[in-house]
Amino acid sequence: MTTRPRPLVAGNWKMNGLKASLSELSAIRDGVMAGGAGRAQTAICPPATLVMAAADLASGSPLAIGGQDCHANQSGAHTGDVSAQMLKDAGAAYAIVGHSERRTDHQETSAQVKAKAEAAIAAGLTAIVCVGESEAQRRAGETLAVVGKQLEESWPAGAAAATLVIAYEPIWAIGTGLTPTPADVAEVHDFIRGVALRLAGAEGAGIRLLYGGSVKPSNAAELMAVSNVDGALIGGASLKASDFLAIAAVYKG
Ligand code: PGA
Repeated sequence: MTTRPRPLVAGNWKMNGLKASLSELSAIRDGVMAGGAGRAQTAICPPATLVMAAADLASGSPLAIGGQDCHANQSGAHTGDVSAQMLKDAGAAYAIVGHSERRTDHQETSAQVKAKAEAAIAAGLTAIVCVGESEAQRRAGETLAVVGKQLEESWPAGAAAATLVIAYEPIWAIGTGLTPTPADVAEVHDFIRGVALRLAGAEGAGIRLLYGGSVKPSNAAELMAVSNVDGALIGGASLKASDFLAIAAVYKG
């Protein structure tokens, strides 16, 4: 049996969080410092406005901070955008790219996602690249074809286990309370592992494959036990320290 990668439990706060929310972040940091995430690594990706303060709060603890997106360029005339270099400078270690909300709200293509992931890696961040099918695509039996195409087209050149994380997030499971069955998750994650091995060679075995979409304390143990699931990307439930820590606790003991 090959050694499984060290799991990663990451929270995506999306467009939620004011300065007052840093108290939840402190509670998450304290829980992680007390061993609450067991053998898992942990990260929280707050909105860009809080990245620097969050990184300051988490500094010296095992809790990492990430951004939720980054521009493909390091700097320049791109009003309103944030570069990977800026996130790194603010203390981030990760950048989520290609989340379905960005693919939908901002019409981001996989080619753009690839460029963003490459920018994140070039800036010294670990890119968390999101892929996932819509409800219609799943019903049409196109899940693996859709996910495979997104992976091929979004895959950053030269990616390694330390610089790339893939998050499988079925769009219909995000924020809905619905989740695929463990067998469905296993089918997709085993498929993604095969793609990772093909695209990254031996490094592909160590690339973390996160499941995301309605992960909560009550379903985390079942989902995290699935073959080739190396952690979770958590939206709603990451906003509450107690829920995030209850999910991460799956990796204790
Ligand atoms: P959710 O979001 O946990 O609220 O379903 C997951 C995500 O979009 O990363």
